[in-house]
Amino acid sequence: MFKLDYEPVVVRPSQGVSKPLNALQKEILELKRERNAVILAHNYQIEPIQRIADHVGDSLGLAYSAAETKAEVIVFCGVHFMAETAKIVNPSKTVILPEFGAGCSLSDACPADKLADYQAKNPHLYTIAYINCSAGVKAVCDLICTSGNAVKMVERIPQDREILFVPDQNLGQWVAEQTGRKMQLWPGSCYAHVLFTAKALERARVQFPNAPVVAHPECVQAVRSLADEVCSTEKMIGYCRSHSADTFIVVTESGMLHRLQREIPHKTFVAGPTDTCACNDCRYMKMNTLENLRTCLQTLTPEITLDPSIIEKARVPLQRMLDWSR
Ligand code: 13P
Ligand code: SF4
Repeated sequence: MFKLDYEPVVVRPSQGVSKPLNALQKEILELKRERNAVILAHNYQIEPIQRIADHVGDSLGLAYSAAETKAEVIVFCGVHFMAETAKIVNPSKTVILPEFGAGCSLSDACPADKLADYQAKNPHLYTIAYINCSAGVKAVCDLICTSGNAVKMVERIPQDREILFVPDQNLGQWVAEQTGRKMQLWPGSCYAHVLFTAKALERARVQFPNAPVVAHPECVQAVRSLADEVCSTEKMIGYCRSHSADTFIVVTESGMLHRLQREIPHKTFVAGPTDTCACNDCRYMKMNTLENLRTCLQTLTPEITLDPSIIEKARVPLQRMLDWSR
């Protein structure tokens, strides 16, 4: 039996008592009201940001929220490609994000010019892009998907088309397994999710033998194959809520545990471990803080601005996804 050389990160029901908002959180809510802003936060954000957001969710849910909001300002507490997506689906709004440098290793793995070169050499390909990519990449794609709808989207692609899936080879491989569709996979990956290993997960399962394992599809195949459920962050909520088990091993970024704890306070959640750590943070998601969120609302910067022609082109595959995903 492996011995854990670090304590697992466990969120137990007794910890689910919510603290009152602090002065900074209250100040942010006041600024939000003055600015007629909406705060959208991804499930991986720090807990104090999740607490004061209008909507906390996955990439898909947040894209719908951005498209539908009546507020004048969208404050996106997530990473850069998510804020760009908000601008594309709702271009008349001012879209700001607390930390402009909050990027994504998947987005970085697929520069738009490289993809366009490959498409020019292979014009027969139907390109589907995971939403974790730049606006420039979206502008040259046929369809966008998220982890929450990737299987459904690929099933809509005509059978006679050869598919190129960018930029996440792990999500692409999982979708290929689910749909039986052969696809060319762009060699990108999420630097954080590939740190989860089968060995580390086996150790957690020894400690929590009755806990179902729920994993994000950005994990490598060896990890996904040990999971009881592979799904988007939003679907993890439904899975853990409806399952009869009272303890779950959650193999994704650690921010997810805050959302699970708030929504399902009577259950216990164990963070998926890596080989070197008891849990796993995305360094980009964690660049947003209450302090830079306040500054961003005060100054309305950093703002997302995009070339109107990119917005127009990127909107086509994104809107197709939003329509097909309903
Ligand atoms: P979800 O859409 O499942 O929340 O995933 C977003 C993401 O960046 C995962 O790393
Ligand atoms: Fe990108 Fe991975 Fe961070 Fe998600 S967790 S934003 S895929 S680097």
